[in-house]
Amino acid sequence: LGRFVHFFESVESTQKIAHRLAQENADEGTLVIAEEQVSGRGRMARTWYSPKGTGIWMSLLLRPSLPPQKAPQFTLIAAVAIVEAIEKVCGLKVDIKWPNDLLINGKKITGILTELQADSEQIHSLIIGIGINVNQDIEDFSEEIQQIATSLHIESGKTFSRAGIVQEILFNLEKYYAVYISEGFEPIKEIWEKYAITIGKHITARTLNKEIKGLASGITNEGVLKLIDENGETHLI
Ligand code: BTN
Repeated sequence: LGRFVHFFESVESTQKIAHRLAQENADEGTLVIAEEQVSGRGRMARTWYSPKGTGIWMSLLLRPSLPPQKAPQFTLIAAVAIVEAIEKVCGLKVDIKWPNDLLINGKKITGILTELQADSEQIHSLIIGIGINVNQDIEDFSEEIQQIATSLHIESGKTFSRAGIVQEILFNLEKYYAVYISEGFEPIKEIWEKYAITIGKHITARTLNKEIKGLASGITNEGVLKLIDENGETHLI
């Protein structure tokens, strides 16, 4: 993975470029990476703050031969690959908050955005967008963002090579993608559950069109969260 790298100084969003490259038949493993994004996107139409030179803003194109229902598993695969890379390179402990947030001391360090081009039976391209706050100082964040986000630098007092972290993430992703293809999702789910702080807690799960409160009881083999509401009904989200 990452054998074909498209590097940009400044882009609207690496996701947008990766989608375009996917439509132009780019190969699996193509990586789009930028120093700055002027309209970085988050989940649920949120914006993702991506200032110049301090973070990792990248999108990776995969082409797994799978039905679209399997796509959520890739957010979990990416989460495990990133957590282990940050632990190894930076020596920091990272928690996973379902579905796609990585937290250090309760504040967001990474967001993952998995998007698809697919028909009802088959994924054509799967784009994993990864945003990591690396070398920002606290004053680089607005007061509002300071409440919810942090950077690897803020948490450790050290400055990190972004290239070193990217390399380790790609190495891990390649490893876990191979595990997934040969052994299925189960081994990755087990590692994910080790880092996840969501399971066993009462949470409010928000999707674009609904909000459900309940007990997060586990992850299905599809990579979907099982939530038991107050009537004892199970929701898959
Ligand atoms: C989230 O937590 O809501 C997901 C954030 C994903 C941000 C990354 S940065 C690289 C890629 N390009 C984007 O525009 N978004 C993703």
